[in-house]
Amino acid sequence: MPRPRRPRRSELATPASNDHMFAKSAASAADLVFLDLEDACAPAERVTARGKAAKALRELDWGSTARAIRMNGVDTQWAYGDVIEVVTNARESLEVIIVPKVRGARDVWWVDTLLTQLEETLGLPSKRIGLEVLIEETEGLENVGEIARASDRLEAIIFGAGDFSASQGARVDTNFDPFVEYPGDMWHYARARIVVAARSAGIDAIDAPFPNYRGPDAYRTACDRAAAMGYVGKWAIHPAQIELANTAFAPTEDELAHARRVVAAYREAEDNGKGAIGLDGMLVDGAHLRHADTLIHFAELLGL
Ligand code: GLV
Ligand code: MG
Repeated sequence: MPRPRRPRRSELATPASNDHMFAKSAASAADLVFLDLEDACAPAERVTARGKAAKALRELDWGSTARAIRMNGVDTQWAYGDVIEVVTNARESLEVIIVPKVRGARDVWWVDTLLTQLEETLGLPSKRIGLEVLIEETEGLENVGEIARASDRLEAIIFGAGDFSASQGARVDTNFDPFVEYPGDMWHYARARIVVAARSAGIDAIDAPFPNYRGPDAYRTACDRAAAMGYVGKWAIHPAQIELANTAFAPTEDELAHARRVVAAYREAEDNGKGAIGLDGMLVDGAHLRHADTLIHFAELLGL
């Protein structure tokens, strides 16, 4: 089964224990909402939260928002129960499972195999539940190339700056920014490594959570920088961040208009037996055509 292509400009986190927040998340404009069974859920709540999450996935009107959960890491006592209980109760209403703290390909295989068994037992369509993984352990970043190819369910890799900075022993503030003046982006290596691995495997890269929900300008700048690198979206840890991400990661009208002019100019060059042409004093060749096509396809995916 081919991987579904989904918009993921904004991925909204909602604690799976807080059922009073679910309706607002379901009605939001987030491209994807994940009900979080992991770190936003107190350990004592994690088992009962599974039932709350499954009920909400099944019963609420999610519109075009993709429905996801974040399970607990495969090295915890909760992992198998999270998958079995939520899939058994939510069935077709669950589209994506986010797997945190992935360290190697074996972690992805473990979830993939469990899902395959469940789909067969429950009579669900095969391989319909997709996966996203969080790279937030240094070991996971070391192995990100093989992780990206570990399963054809895998749709995206997310950079988890919070746990990653802890795993690396970095000294950061509560927004996971360096606690001293640091030239450039301290996480550039991780971000670059992740987007290259994701793209090489034909999947998406999603940027990190940004705890400072009262800093819209800083959040927007972080979105723009991630988008410049090829990330297609960012986590939103608060509804206030959704629109900012949706706008930042979508092509602008000017970009789209320019992309269409590039395609037209290139086609004209082709018709004249050439591989390049001048447009507004700039050379346009095959690489420009590729950029323009990518942008136009992304806009189509977003319904623009
Ligand atoms: C996300 O889970 C993070 O740790 O940043
Ligand atoms: Mg984390």
